[in-house]
Amino acid sequence: MANVVIAGTQWGDEGKGKIVDLLTQYAHCIVRFQGGNNAGHTLVVDGRQFIFHLIPSGILYENKKCLIGNGVVLDPGVLLGEMKELAENGLKVSPDKLMISENTHLIMPYHNRLDLASEALKKTGKKIGTTGRGIGPCYADKIIRKGIKIGELLDKDLFKEKLLENIDEKNYILTKQLESDPVSFDEIYEQYRKYAEDLAPYIGNVSVELDNARKSGKNILFEGAQGTQLDIDHGTYPFVTSSNTVAGNACAGAGFGPSHIDAVIGILKAYTTRVGEGPFPTELFDATGDAIQKKGNEFGATTGRKRRCGWLDGVIAGDAVRLNGITGLAITKLDILSGQPTLKIATEYEEGGERLACMPGNIRRVERLKPVYEELPGWDEEIGDVRNFDDLPAKTQDYVKRIEEITETPISIISVGPDREKTLLLKNPFEE
Ligand code: GDP
Ligand code: IMO
Ligand code: MG
Repeated sequence: MANVVIAGTQWGDEGKGKIVDLLTQYAHCIVRFQGGNNAGHTLVVDGRQFIFHLIPSGILYENKKCLIGNGVVLDPGVLLGEMKELAENGLKVSPDKLMISENTHLIMPYHNRLDLASEALKKTGKKIGTTGRGIGPCYADKIIRKGIKIGELLDKDLFKEKLLENIDEKNYILTKQLESDPVSFDEIYEQYRKYAEDLAPYIGNVSVELDNARKSGKNILFEGAQGTQLDIDHGTYPFVTSSNTVAGNACAGAGFGPSHIDAVIGILKAYTTRVGEGPFPTELFDATGDAIQKKGNEFGATTGRKRRCGWLDGVIAGDAVRLNGITGLAITKLDILSGQPTLKIATEYEEGGERLACMPGNIRRVERLKPVYEELPGWDEEIGDVRNFDDLPAKTQDYVKRIEEITETPISIISVGPDREKTLLLKNPFEE
């Protein structure tokens, strides 16, 4: 029996969805514990692509339980949309397949409006480049104790009271401070009462469900969203998301004790991407960056924005190993690097004549960082059909081994294509 956390090590979009889908075969419960529909997790099964924003990536399997923890911020319209789309594809989501924690906070229409309006008012250089899904304002309400939990939707009077208070305040901010239009209490009330009817059978106590699963010897897989450099505390603040994305939050965000976590798999793309604003030390502004962007089809799975691309950053990989307690790495998109004559990995940063071995906290310093690169020879062969480490070209093996050395962490998984089977499972974290 093992309980495993999947965490992004970079700025998100490392391929977490693919690895969660792959490892779901060994787990019984698959749990989202933070973030919301800012996430876009892509799965490719038998050539068919699915993108999930809220539903855990284990949903394509029969007889698995998917859970949405209290640490998630949930837009009920988006969740119901995903459930409908799955039903149209012949995959009916029923309450025995999906449970939502009663403590999960709701994204309300005014959160999206506040997110978009406050971004629109920011000057160039100050914009975060959020996904516009209301994530920041929803977490802000939760922390300032004004949020509405999904369990409270089922209590008509409590919901009405909290919604009235919120609408008063949000309409003041929208109209007086953000030069935007007000939202309507009646429309939101009617819409969310309908959501309450549709979602009531799915709402429960996720913590108790996970505890029961653990006690009966079932494996649990925790599906992180975003990545370590987008973490609210440890990332490149303020160009981050509004939750803790590191593995430790799997416990607080699902109601699960830290002593029961057995392994943490860090997902590391073989190069680096970032979508949205904010500093990115190894970013490439040349033809190599464009080539990686094209070959890697690097477009945001949520917003469709072009992802910025750069070399692998060993400094943030090392930070991620420390911050998440990573026991094994999954290297993804290694196939995209085929054909590059030379590959670079940043092993340190340089700033004002000083060498740095980890990401500094001050954003002005982060903006000034210059990566110190190590160069490795590339390989020409396409590797999408390779399934054994020894069958990889020698230079590909060397690149992987160098990542292992730099991060001082074993490589558990290598991914060489978007499909479930395009994977080398070197060490199964459920069998440690
Ligand atoms: P996530 O947010 O971490 O789940 O990642 P995304 O789904 O946003 O982005 C990863 C993209 O890379 C998706 O389009 C995946 O289908 C794709 N992908 C994942 N692993 C691999 C791989 O090893 N090789 C290739 N070529 N594509 C991959
Ligand atoms: P997955 O789970 C990549 C980025 C946004 C923006 C910043 C804040 O697919 O890896 P937010 O809407 O969260 O307030 O935006 O965070 N961001 C992501 N970037 N992958 C994600 O999720 C992201 N979720 C948020 O682009 O820069
Ligand atoms: Mg993504």
